[in-house]
Amino acid sequence: MMKTRNAFPPDFLWGGAIAANQAEGAWKEGGKGPSINDALRHGIVHGKLDQAIEEGVHYPSHEAIDFYHRYKEDIALFKELGLKCFRTSIAWSRIFPNGDELLPNEQGLQFYDELFDELLKNGIEPVITISHFETPLHLVRAYGGWKSRKLIDYYTRYCEAIFTRYKHKVKYWMGFNEINHMHTIPLAAGAVEITDGAGQLQDIYQASHHLFVASAVAAKLCHTIIPGSQMGCMLSLSIIYPNTCNPEDVFETYELRRRSLFYSDVLVRGEYPSYSRRIFEEHGIEISMEAGDLELIRRHPADYVGFSYYRSSTHQAGQPILGNTGGIIGMDNPYLSKTAWGWPIDPKGLRYVCNEIYDRYQKPLFIVENGLGARDEIREDGSIEDDERIEYLNRHLRELNEALLDGCEIIGYTWWGPVDIVSAGTGEMEKRYGFIYVDKDNSGQGTLERIKKKSFGWYRQVIATNGGALFTDTAAGT
Ligand code: BG6
Repeated sequence: MMKTRNAFPPDFLWGGAIAANQAEGAWKEGGKGPSINDALRHGIVHGKLDQAIEEGVHYPSHEAIDFYHRYKEDIALFKELGLKCFRTSIAWSRIFPNGDELLPNEQGLQFYDELFDELLKNGIEPVITISHFETPLHLVRAYGGWKSRKLIDYYTRYCEAIFTRYKHKVKYWMGFNEINHMHTIPLAAGAVEITDGAGQLQDIYQASHHLFVASAVAAKLCHTIIPGSQMGCMLSLSIIYPNTCNPEDVFETYELRRRSLFYSDVLVRGEYPSYSRRIFEEHGIEISMEAGDLELIRRHPADYVGFSYYRSSTHQAGQPILGNTGGIIGMDNPYLSKTAWGWPIDPKGLRYVCNEIYDRYQKPLFIVENGLGARDEIREDGSIEDDERIEYLNRHLRELNEALLDGCEIIGYTWWGPVDIVSAGTGEMEKRYGFIYVDKDNSGQGTLERIKKKSFGWYRQVIATNGGALFTDTAAGT
């Protein structure tokens, strides 16, 4: 076999990523209003919004890992880890507690000023998601989330406030986390509550249109207020394979993939793709648009494609790809092992997706989420030997290197959850991604103490050598 070489460019953004609602806690502090996550007991996949947020009940986001109060300690660890960039989100409801106020909440703005200053002081570039599964709860209750066109105005106001305030601090932005999850978890992606009603698909596409317009407005504003800034889109692009070479499996899988790529097609190419016409016709979808919407979308596409990649799944024609709660099921892939949460581990799939997306758009890629959720055990001597996580990371980074060699332009890679955080899907704390352990369990008990795991030293070495350590015997053998 040909020996591979290290292809990571010198300015590659090695990083880590979290989201405000999964880390900050302090759900009512500093004038913050509740977001959808604050009304979910068991995460976004399995949960329905509580009608009222109850006292004395454990809601995982209310304290999370208390990043709000401990970010300095965590950033010091990120610096030690050598992170070049750090992706987090701004909690919309810290800036506009209900979402529809006219003026932003100064205390909320101040918090992110201090957070970004701390990152920059430590030589870490902030990469910011504007909306990560945490729409202000009031916007769901009062307007039905992104089904309502009014949200474009509220989001615009929010964007103006944060772009103006952080224009000297943040260069890399992304509009909506995993926007293509509108189909699988519309509550998370578009604050649209799931109904069993026949109008569900109509609601999803209408809300998606509003998200597209909002994304274009945000890109326009961002480039105007912050010259030289980069506005990316963000999709969940874990890959999906046909179960067999039966053309029925192959084509249905292709259609499912297009259901995701529909979102990047609009956001990157700036046009509704031709295949969407048939979908709209067959499902009787009628999207209400205003004059100028399509022109706006066309003129303000995304600068880069940010995406998450965790796993692959396998599809057989006629079988559901989703369970009743929105989680991916699919068929078993006999070639792959699985995580403790049943997610197939497929490093080659990451190379596949990079090539697929780069071939399609020729726009820079940014892998803004990739990681392994696993149980960790603290040994008697206090150490945590997370070799499984190291192996996952090692194998995925080697495939990323192959994608670079294939010619894909890749800006950076942010590991999901460099410090343990609350699981978005299930609300569990014990589904851990971190290189840094956080002492807290699923019921919310624990000291919140941070402990470095074995993977911490491993990733640090990879970053310090700009990927070189991946190709030495010590790193490869882990
Ligand atoms: C992505 C989300 O879908 O997957 C993150 O953007 C999430 O917010 C991540 O945490 C991993 O999923 P989970 O359910 O293991 O937290």
